[in-house]
Amino acid sequence: MSKHRVSRRQFLSYTLTGVGGFMAAGMLMPMVRFAVDPVLKGEDTGDFIATPLKTTDINTEPQKVNFKFKQKDAWYESEETGTAWVFKNEAGEIVALSPVCKHLGCIVDWGTDKEHPEQFFCPCHYGRYEKDGTNVPGTPPLAPLDVYPTKEKDGFLYVGKAEPRKGA
Ligand code: FES
Repeated sequence: MSKHRVSRRQFLSYTLTGVGGFMAAGMLMPMVRFAVDPVLKGEDTGDFIATPLKTTDINTEPQKVNFKFKQKDAWYESEETGTAWVFKNEAGEIVALSPVCKHLGCIVDWGTDKEHPEQFFCPCHYGRYEKDGTNVPGTPPLAPLDVYPTKEKDGFLYVGKAEPRKGA
């Protein structure tokens, strides 16, 4: 017989500690994963997405550009379509605006309001924005349209993640 016999009390204690630890790890792991997820996804942030628009085709008239990107939601990856309104401003700089209305999130169009052909128009509650994305006072939106950072690569327009306009 071995001298290192495990008493019934010790056996119960080891077993309960083991099972308890296993259960605690099972509960904590998803929480830890959730907490550090943005860090793990860090390499994605700031990524630019290619659009099919050649920068030489961009002029002063806003044009709607659709682009595809992959979106990862936990373990599920899907292909999404994004949209930007793209034009050159008076300084010749490329501007890419988000089409998402800052009132309640409908999609704005360019020049579809007959009385204001040089503005973005949101048909949901008649929201309007100037060409540079500034919300027109007296209409429902209370902030300018978000702006995509842009860059050019191999002659094509790339856009980053839309963000609120600086200074707005
Ligand atoms: S959602 Fe655009 S005006 Fe209300």
